[in-house]
Amino acid sequence: MERTFVMVKPDGVQRGLIGEIIRRFETRGLRLIGLKMLRIDEGLARRHYRDHIEKPFFPSLLEFITSSPVVAMVVEGKAAVQNVRTMMGALDPTQAQPGTLRGDYTNDKQLNIIHGSDSVENAEREIGLFFTPEEVLDYERTLDRWLVSP
Ligand code: PPS
Repeated sequence: MERTFVMVKPDGVQRGLIGEIIRRFETRGLRLIGLKMLRIDEGLARRHYRDHIEKPFFPSLLEFITSSPVVAMVVEGKAAVQNVRTMMGALDPTQAQPGTLRGDYTNDKQLNIIHGSDSVENAEREIGLFFTPEEVLDYERTLDRWLVSP
């Protein structure tokens, strides 16, 4: 089992896509083990996007990500990091496949409704930025044995 960090970005919240995004993960068999709504401040945005601070688009990204609430999640499942990235679709709108979240709902590099960690290491780091250990819940669903073979 693997854990990943997922965020419904301000545009996803404003467009009423929180439920649709969570529905897709749940029906895929991924398990939600942490969930909160928050308004990201500049400090958290800089820590979260630390690798992009020097990029030309960073001021615009900072303004966008702090502009309205986001929904932060911890999602657990088999190969959760890559599975979530595949379900999200590509960053480049011309490459985002229909059937993916970005391919179905977005056409822009910044207004792209969702963030998902790109590696297990970054997932651990990002989960730690947004959640305390107590806010990440360890539990079993009776359904899980019908979703993942032993
Ligand atoms: S890059 O170009 O390799 O740094 O791209 P990437 O690492 O995939 O993107 C990092 C986050 O920056 C956002 N992004 C942009 N925002 C605005 N304008 C432009 N041109 C742009 N390019 C990338 C992108 O949505 C990524 O956000 P997250 O939250 O990580 O998905």
